[in-house]
Amino acid sequence: MAKSTQADLIGRPLDRVDGAQKVTGKATYAFEYATQGTAACGFIVSASIGKGRILAVDARDAQRAPGVLLILTKDNAPPQSPWGPVDLPDRFARAEPALNTDEVLYFGFPVAFVVAETFEQASAAAAMVRVQYDSMPGDYDLHAAGPSAENPGRMNGALAADSAVGDFESAFANAPVQIDANYTTPYQNQAPMEPHATLAAWQGEMLTVHTSAQLTTSPQEGLARTLNIPKENVRIVTRYVGGGFGSKLPYYVDATLAAIGARTLGRPVKVAMTRPQVFHATTHRTASEQHVRLGADRNGRLTAYGQDALVHCARFDMFTEPVCGAARMLYAALNRLTRHRRAKLDLPRSDSMRAPGDAIGLLALECAMDELAEALSLDPIELRLRNDTLTDPERDLPFASRHLADALREGAARFGWDKRVAKPASVRDGRWFVGLGVASAIRADVLESATARARLESDGRLTVELAMTDIGTGSYTILTQIAAETMDLPVDRVTVSLGDTRFPPTAGSGGSFGAGTSGAAVLAACRKLKVGLASGITEAEGSVTPSELDNAYAHAGFGAHFAQVGVDRDTGEVRVRRMLGVFAAGRILNAKTARSQVIGGMTWGIGAALTEENHVDVRYGSFVNQDLASYHVAVNADVGEMDVVFLHEDDPHGSPLGSKGIGELGICGAGAAVMNAIHNATGARIRDFPATPDKLLPTLETLDA
Ligand code: MOS
Repeated sequence: MAKSTQADLIGRPLDRVDGAQKVTGKATYAFEYATQGTAACGFIVSASIGKGRILAVDARDAQRAPGVLLILTKDNAPPQSPWGPVDLPDRFARAEPALNTDEVLYFGFPVAFVVAETFEQASAAAAMVRVQYDSMPGDYDLHAAGPSAENPGRMNGALAADSAVGDFESAFANAPVQIDANYTTPYQNQAPMEPHATLAAWQGEMLTVHTSAQLTTSPQEGLARTLNIPKENVRIVTRYVGGGFGSKLPYYVDATLAAIGARTLGRPVKVAMTRPQVFHATTHRTASEQHVRLGADRNGRLTAYGQDALVHCARFDMFTEPVCGAARMLYAALNRLTRHRRAKLDLPRSDSMRAPGDAIGLLALECAMDELAEALSLDPIELRLRNDTLTDPERDLPFASRHLADALREGAARFGWDKRVAKPASVRDGRWFVGLGVASAIRADVLESATARARLESDGRLTVELAMTDIGTGSYTILTQIAAETMDLPVDRVTVSLGDTRFPPTAGSGGSFGAGTSGAAVLAACRKLKVGLASGITEAEGSVTPSELDNAYAHAGFGAHFAQVGVDRDTGEVRVRRMLGVFAAGRILNAKTARSQVIGGMTWGIGAALTEENHVDVRYGSFVNQDLASYHVAVNADVGEMDVVFLHEDDPHGSPLGSKGIGELGICGAGAAVMNAIHNATGARIRDFPATPDKLLPTLETLDA
């Protein structure tokens, strides 16, 4: 039989199929679907108090401003369903009404909506809307609310808030070597480049919503719920998305208000949030207080392993970030205890941000492991190897595949770990103290539901359609590869269409499940079509469900992060000189886009370790830094040499594609590796993230210049 021309296409470092469209400005984002003059522009007016009531909205001046077409307030907004229900199983399909209450639930809460011919007219008129408030004291301080925090029982994903194996307290008390340390992580924002934006248009009873979203069917259901219309009357279109990172799992009032405004005016309305609105009126990552207790024998074997986390949740919501999820799977120990407590604050909603739970849980856990290694005078890699396990230590399930040890060893060899000097502050390079750090990476791997449609056109081209999104990750590209290889067609004869609820439903992009889930559906559809072609069938649908992940096994991707930093002896400035990430994440679907994904995650690790921090002004409940100048995400200038290695890993018990999620694996542990490198460079143990220079100066002052 002739060898397929497209064999092994999956995995190749194919350039993004949408790359040229993006760099030439031809990829259409939500806000760009209507030309100037066609759509009216809406602008959201945000509350300037943190908690209270709206007494009156005076829009008389705004109404007379040039170009103004419509002003909506609590006094004239149309009826909508109330927010929620809070316990809806798909929380991203909840009703998201706007201007339906006189209550202000958080600073930046939408209190009015101005639509005008142009964006400038709308924003100018919005500034003329006068809102009178009855302001009430709110709870904005996580630490202060700690003692009254509640046990949430269950967290999102139905995970139990608490887990216990053996007798942690007595094992810890009796452990010859103990680490007992408190860590804090700050509020963070997903800060996608493209702000949340929507263009809505009605044709009769049919609503078309172009919005920047990670999901498609959830906002479709949610908007229908909000507006009390049939789901079938709502079409969500989201072809290109300029980053989501969890903040576009929910939809927001930009979508609701665009839809309401468009219906009221009888013409399309588009709304983009300003950057401060992105900070205040979308979700963010909770701050956390974490208590890690590790007990080990003198050989470095963990006997007691405990992590407690305090997080916040908006007063009206129930999200609990599963901070200790990684702790439940990462290392062996016979006695274990993890607990989550949740404080309700009068802040906007906390919800998912890249690797919710593991990203910040591992900052504490993997720094604590570094502290334990030091206490034992044991190499931090050796400590991790001694506590590796091929069985999920809490659920007693074998891992479908787990190559943490290989990642640690391979990384150590490549990074030059043998040159690390264990004693901190031993290596100088001019004015810089230089050090190396390591941390493990783990991220649970899940499969969701998806259906894809594949059709062979009369000209021999293949069309693939599914309501998946590409949030910048490379979905278009990997799905093209999967379809082309399966159908044995050249890549340029395959068209993948995404981001439209007219296509078969998928779970969208989130939780690192996007590629494996949507890819498995495309694989199934193409296989079915290929068989069907013999009998003249030119169109087929294929599906995948979570049950295809064998639940007799635990599923996770693993890796190891290595960092080399220089710390300026006088200023405390930290520069990340080199980073290496070694990952074992099943079959890699595209070597280039996969690499980009984890480089992105590792870069977020630099931000978490060094700069990213949102401050709440506890007098007003506002985020102090609400732009990309004062909320500093790591940028190109913050990143030194960065390298990524994927280990070959077969995962016969995993997704039908054999892939594992990688979208979030890269951030998991990355910040801890940087922090551990800072300790090796200087001897400073910073347990309050991020390690800004002011926190390093006291240690630096004790070191010989
Ligand atoms: Mo992710 S934080 O589920 O987009």
